[in-house]
This record gives sequence, C-alpha cells and structure tokens, in this order.
Amino acid sequence: MSTPARLRTRLTERFGLDTPVLNAPMALVAGGALAAAVTRAGGLGFIGGGYAGTLGHEPDLHAEFARAAGQRVGIGFITWALDRAPTLLDAALACKPAAVFLSFGDPRPHAAKIHAAGVPLICQVQRLADIAPALDAGAAIIVAQGTEAGGHGGDRATFPFVPEAADHLAAHSPDTLLLAAGGIADGRGLAAALLLGADGVVLGTRLWAAEEALTHDAALARAFAASGDDTLRTRAIDALRGVPWPEDFSFRILRNALTDAWAGREADAFAARGSLQATYDAARQRGDYEVVVAVAGEVVGQLRQREAAGDILARITGDALTALARAGNGDFRPPGT
Ligand SMILES: Cc1cc2nc3c(=O)[nH]c(=O)nc-3n(C[C@H](O)[C@H](O)[C@H](O)COP(=O)(O)O)c2cc1C
Repeated sequence: MSTPARLRTRLTERFGLDTPVLNAPMALVAGGALAAAVTRAGGLGFIGGGYAGTLGHEPDLHAEFARAAGQRVGIGFITWALDRAPTLLDAALACKPAAVFLSFGDPRPHAAKIHAAGVPLICQVQRLADIAPALDAGAAIIVAQGTEAGGHGGDRATFPFVPEAADHLAAHSPDTLLLAAGGIADGRGLAAALLLGADGVVLGTRLWAAEEALTHDAALARAFAASGDDTLRTRAIDALRGVPWPEDFSFRILRNALTDAWAGREADAFAARGSLQATYDAARQRGDYEVVVAVAGEVVGQLRQREAAGDILARITGDALTALARAGNGDFRPPGT
C-alpha cells in the first residue's frame, strides 16, 4: 500500500519520499524484506547491518540487499562494531545503499569512504554533545534518539531533546536535517515530532512488530501482552552475554526472568562478564524468551498485533495528517468528543 504524498517535509523533498518515515536499521530484525516494504510504502527502508558480522550469527548483507528486490534501501551499522570490521562498509557500499546510518560511536573514521561513494550519511545521536562530531563527519541527517527507544540508547528524553537539537542545528548547520527517534509509534507521535522541529521520524519498535520483520513470534507474544511499564534500561545483559557495548549505552528491553535476576546488579554483571554467553546463545536457538530478551521500547504498550509495514506507515501518516489538521483548527479535543 502506498502512502499519499501529502505530508511534505524537507526529508520527503530531498529523498523523494511520500512520508517522512524511516525504519530503524535494527540488528537481526530489519532485513531486506522490511526495508523494501518501508520504501514501497513511501518511506525509506533500512537494512540492519548491526554488529557488522562481529557477533557471528548475523544475516548476510548481500542476501538482504537481494531480498530488497531492487527497492531503494539504506544500511545501518553499530559504529563501534564497524570499527572492528571496517571492510564490511566497503561491501555495503558496493550494494549502492540509499544512505548509511551510523549509531553508537564516532562516525568520523568511516565518513570519507561514505562520502567518496556519494552516499548520504545519517548519524543517530544520544546527546547534544554528539552532534558536533556528526557534523564534522558531514552528516546529511542527524537522528536525535530519546531514551524511550527500544534497544541501545542513552538518557535524554525525546520530548526535550528534539527541539534542543532542532535549535542547535538551526544555529550551526541549518541545511542538516533532523529526525526524531524513540517513543514514536502512531500518528500522534509523528505529528508531535514534526511540531517539535523534526523533519521526520525513525520507527524502531513499531516496525519490529511488522509482518516483514525477522522478529521471533515468542518475542512478539510477550510484547503484545506488555505495557510500557514492562521495559527497562540496563547494561547488565550485554555484560552477561559477552557483547562488548561501551558503557555509554544501556539496553531497553522487555523485562523477563533474566532481567528480574540481574537488572539492578550491574556491578555484579560486569564482574561476571561473558559468563552467560553459552546459555544465552542456546536460549536464542530454542526461542526461550525468559532468557533471551525481547528488544522493545516504551511504545510496546501500543503494539497488539503483527501488521504489514505498508499498513502501519499508511495509518501513521494518515493519522498524523488528521492530527495536524485538527491542531491547525485549534481543536485539541479527542476525536468524537
Ligand atoms: C529490536 C531493535 C533493534 C535495534 N537495533 C539497532 C541497531 O542495530 N542499530 C541502531 O542504530 N539502532 C538500533 N535500534 C534503535 C533504533 O535505531 C531507534 O533509535 C529506536 O528503535 C527508536 O525508538 P522506538 O523503538 O521507540 O521506535 C534498535 C531498536 C530496536 C527496537
């Protein structure tokens, strides 16, 4: 389903989109099928290059680009992991991505290659102080990620972070676009992000539950029964499963038996670093989500069923337009009252 081209922003104009929505390049979740579905629906789809192969159980990038079946899609990497396997960026650039999305580390060492390939660079940031290095790297788009987000992130909240980032860019780099990420799952969220000064949004958790995502059914079953109260941020799980995340970033996940046992005991988990790696990998193989964590943000409470990405984008865009039109009339009563 394609989205009508009525929600125009600088992002839709520069990238030729029908709606100012990107899917997050979610590691192990956003393959070529999801990326292609988002592009087909008028947004811009991204494949999750994730840990750049350093975890050892990640999908093959060429296969995922092939699965995108000719749709224009981008690729994202976890920057500190790409530092360890930088040649994967060459392989990704050979697939002619629509953009490269880097998050969680210093983008500058990778920027020259991306620019030489003529590919726009998108940098997701967690703090205002991260914007300057991203601008140094020549980012065409900054994504301000709030702590509400699913997966890894920082401490700033989307609502105050986005307008502060918008003002900062207006003062220092007015041509650089700004997207909001973290806590956006419906038309109200998209409309609010645009009113806060963003040129568009990045959806993670909402599209984690899309039909085309590689998400395990057992993780979704937990998500559909959860509310936003059931997520937490912790560094303990990465330490225990032996994934070397820098301590600047914590992990927002759905609580389960493992987080009940460890979430409040980060120092103990750091001391036991890597001790649950084999247990965790075995649980992943058998789909045991009391051990493996379901990775979702606070908007998990708005997910109740798996839907096609195209339907999600069409509804969010239509609802945002309705919300913005009502706001334009000064009418903030809930619909139907
Ligand atoms: C399952 C999942 C995996 C994610 N993996 C990545 C990743 O590999 N790289 C990345 O830059 N961001 C990743 N993120 C974070 C997103 O980029 C984005 O900031 C976040 O999903 C936005 O918040 P939301 O989940 O509330 O929509 C992930 C998010 C989720 C939910």
